[in-house]
Amino acid sequence: MSIVGIEALEFGVENLAVGKQFVADFGLSPVNDTTFETLNGARLSLAPINDPQLPPAFESGSTLRRMTWGAADATALAALKVRLADQPGFVDHGDLIECRDPNGMTVAIRVSTLREVELEVTPINQYGDMRRIDTPSPVYERATPVGIGHAVFFVDDLEATEAFYREKLGFAVSDRYTDRAVFLRMQARGGHHNLFLLKLPHRGAGLNHVAFTVRDIHEVIGGGLAMNRKQWSTFLGPGRHPISSAYFWYVNSPLGGAFEYYTNEDYLTEAWEPREMQHSLESFTEWAVEGGIDAETRRQKKAEV
Ligand SMILES: [Fe+2]
Repeated sequence: MSIVGIEALEFGVENLAVGKQFVADFGLSPVNDTTFETLNGARLSLAPINDPQLPPAFESGSTLRRMTWGAADATALAALKVRLADQPGFVDHGDLIECRDPNGMTVAIRVSTLREVELEVTPINQYGDMRRIDTPSPVYERATPVGIGHAVFFVDDLEATEAFYREKLGFAVSDRYTDRAVFLRMQARGGHHNLFLLKLPHRGAGLNHVAFTVRDIHEVIGGGLAMNRKQWSTFLGPGRHPISSAYFWYVNSPLGGAFEYYTNEDYLTEAWEPREMQHSLESFTEWAVEGGIDAETRRQKKAEV
């Protein structure tokens, strides 16, 4: 279908200075004073929480205010214009359109400007499949995220929000937790999810986390340790999700929700059959370290007393 990438995230934040420090420490490069980017050119920008340029917030406090998706080309954008014209908040800016999704998030779409990134990724050696010969595995001092891979929203109306992304933007269902959540991907062929919508009984709409793709498991670990060294707290990680198979490390974010480093997610095609499961601890994590790993001792971080 027509959406091919996550182009930009715009946050409204309570403390701009702390927010900027966090994003720089997380490994994004500055473009200007309040905008940062990943290696593939996906941008993250910050503005004061009450900035009149920002669209309305879907929850109180620092959070994501606008999410921009990339369309494959001008033809795809023109088709989306027609399909989204009846949505609340629809505005046609010519080369950029925007509207609100049923969860209150402002969704913008433009023709994708993301760059192809060529990186050296060291293979791993597994039984019967030795791919790394006479070459050691890397150790990363810090992470440098390649791109923005997915966002996770708490939703009020799961059915309506899922219908918007499937019917209007052409997303495909990857997996589902009965009456609770859905994993969606923007293309039939691609990473396991670009959006995860989660309905919790006592939580209204809001941001759970945004996730950044890194090269390999070693960069997930190096990135998490570097954030720990800089005194940012870990929500959960390192760990592994059984759904999507990804390794992850979530860091608490002063921009709202958490920021995730992840790698090694499942790659799906048209042949994939979505699974339906019960939402449970076992389906969320195979294993995970609570509070992270201490960068000095290299051991699990002890709980503060
Ligand atoms: Fe995630």
